[in-house]
Amino acid sequence: MCGIVGFTGKDQAVPFLLEGLQTLEYRGYDSAGIEVLSPDGGLHGVKCAGRVATLKERCATANLLGSTGIAHTRWATHGAPTDRNAHPHLDCSGRIAVVHNGIIENFRDLRAYLSRNGHTIVSDTDSEVVAHLIEDAWAGPAQGDLVAAVRNAVQRLEGSWALAVECADTPGQLVVARKGSPLVIASDEHGAYAASDITPLAAITSHVIQLEDDQFGLLRDDGSVTVYDKDGIEVAEPSTIDIDWDASAATLGGYADFMAKEIAEQPEALERLLEDRLGEHGVELDELSLSREQLAAIDRVYLVACGTSYHVCLIAKEMIEEWARIPVFCEYASELNYKDPLVTDHTLCVIVTQSGETADTLAAARRMRALGCNVFAITNVLGSTAARESDGTMYIQAGPEVCVASTKAYTAQMVAAALLALRLGYTNGTIDRAEVERHFRNLQAVPDLMREVIARRWQDKQAAQLFRDAHSSLFLGRGVNATTAYEGALKLKEISYLHAEAYPAGEMKHGPIALLEKGFPVVAIVPADHVHEKMVSNIQEVIARGASCVAVATDGDETVASMCQHTLWIPACPEELVTPIVAVVHLQLLARYVARSRGCDVDKPRNLAKSVTVE
Ligand code: AGP
Repeated sequence: MCGIVGFTGKDQAVPFLLEGLQTLEYRGYDSAGIEVLSPDGGLHGVKCAGRVATLKERCATANLLGSTGIAHTRWATHGAPTDRNAHPHLDCSGRIAVVHNGIIENFRDLRAYLSRNGHTIVSDTDSEVVAHLIEDAWAGPAQGDLVAAVRNAVQRLEGSWALAVECADTPGQLVVARKGSPLVIASDEHGAYAASDITPLAAITSHVIQLEDDQFGLLRDDGSVTVYDKDGIEVAEPSTIDIDWDASAATLGGYADFMAKEIAEQPEALERLLEDRLGEHGVELDELSLSREQLAAIDRVYLVACGTSYHVCLIAKEMIEEWARIPVFCEYASELNYKDPLVTDHTLCVIVTQSGETADTLAAARRMRALGCNVFAITNVLGSTAARESDGTMYIQAGPEVCVASTKAYTAQMVAAALLALRLGYTNGTIDRAEVERHFRNLQAVPDLMREVIARRWQDKQAAQLFRDAHSSLFLGRGVNATTAYEGALKLKEISYLHAEAYPAGEMKHGPIALLEKGFPVVAIVPADHVHEKMVSNIQEVIARGASCVAVATDGDETVASMCQHTLWIPACPEELVTPIVAVVHLQLLARYVARSRGCDVDKPRNLAKSVTVE
């Protein structure tokens, strides 16, 4: 949720810290702050409500000098997004500074304890207690050893954290700690760096240390790094990951915003994912950690995720049930965590998570694993917690997704799910090799179909005018494209703040039809498929009530075009199950144009954060 960066070295810290925060801003952007150990021996910083851009402006006049520092961009959980609640937080002496990502669940008890013992807490956050606990430990049992002080403080915490800590009395050192929230470390000849994820570090190195839960890192200004376990024993071989994309992958590269860039990147992302997948097992999925016999024995599949990734599950259910004939249960991770799932000895649990750090999804995966399921992760982020904690991981290789609204991860995850479905079907004998190849070729056709849709984006721009002054909207689809309607509505809501409801079109008459009135915008996903005629009837019901209809329809469908105000054309798709992957591109584009016409920041919608690391 929040973004953390730290640096200690020979160079000035502020340039890296501010650039690093900028790249991590998608993790949270309601306030930001920086604290640097200056040559006068004291900590000096700036923090403010608002974006990193505001912090940069303030820093330009603050003249912060020093080669050790920490910085933070926040997504508020405890305490409003104000200057006072922005990180870093200091201890009473002002000589220890802390940035935190996660939630300290027992912070109320700790605040009360610290207050009773003479500490003055100045913010409303859960995080500030950490600085005061370190202050106590520093003066007490740790006897001036910063790693020991952080270790001692952390023992009193409940919840999740990634921490970076600096102390005016240990110049040239930073200490980091992790439990449940990601943190990576890098070093080069200029010094040592810490960050919430690899994006700020990609320009520095292709090799990073990934801190594990309950580990601590000591970063020194000569670039050396030591990792310790919870008992303070040095870890001989900390876990590392290689960054396989270059730093420019996380830059705008000439696009107006990351959403536009990421929509445009979809065809290449899918091509990468499909490369070299056909083989002796039908579809090659070496990422699965199950033998052929274990795979063939799978008798049910749980698909678990949140938000857009949950919509991937709904599509994946259709694919697995049709191609592999295995019953599938789709669950919101946040719901599954409070249910009693119907797990058998042969249940496969698939978690779908772009970030690999969504707290609800991770909690559900841990639970399903504890119940005996093999857990398979479909994720985008290399070395993410989902990948590390699962039995098998398929990376969708979509490259960094910076825009908070997921686009390329959505379509790549659908393709990954399709590959899994084909592998399951081939292994259990419900589809033969010729069928696998036919479906695979159909998937291979998708990137070019998407390119065609992207080239037609002017249609979305025109249709967006219908929504600019609307107060609500309705998205309708049937069969597999009911999910396309859900995803289209979610995209519109999250980036344009326009209410959008999505329904299976046949259900409209049971309630949502009451919303319709003259000019009310309705989006109908009506490709050429086996429910096309039913959708046409639903569109009739919409226009009979004076509502305005935008259709996503297949080239040449004049019946639909003649009924609707706008038609967003998709080329004919080779099979029904791939239509959602193509059709959704129009809805991504539509949402973006609507958001821009309403003056919204499409990449950083209000109240949201890219990876939701709190339950
Ligand atoms: C997508 O546009 C959303 N921002 C959100 O619903 C997201 O898909 C959800 O939070 C799950 O994230 P994950 O895929 O990283 O687990």
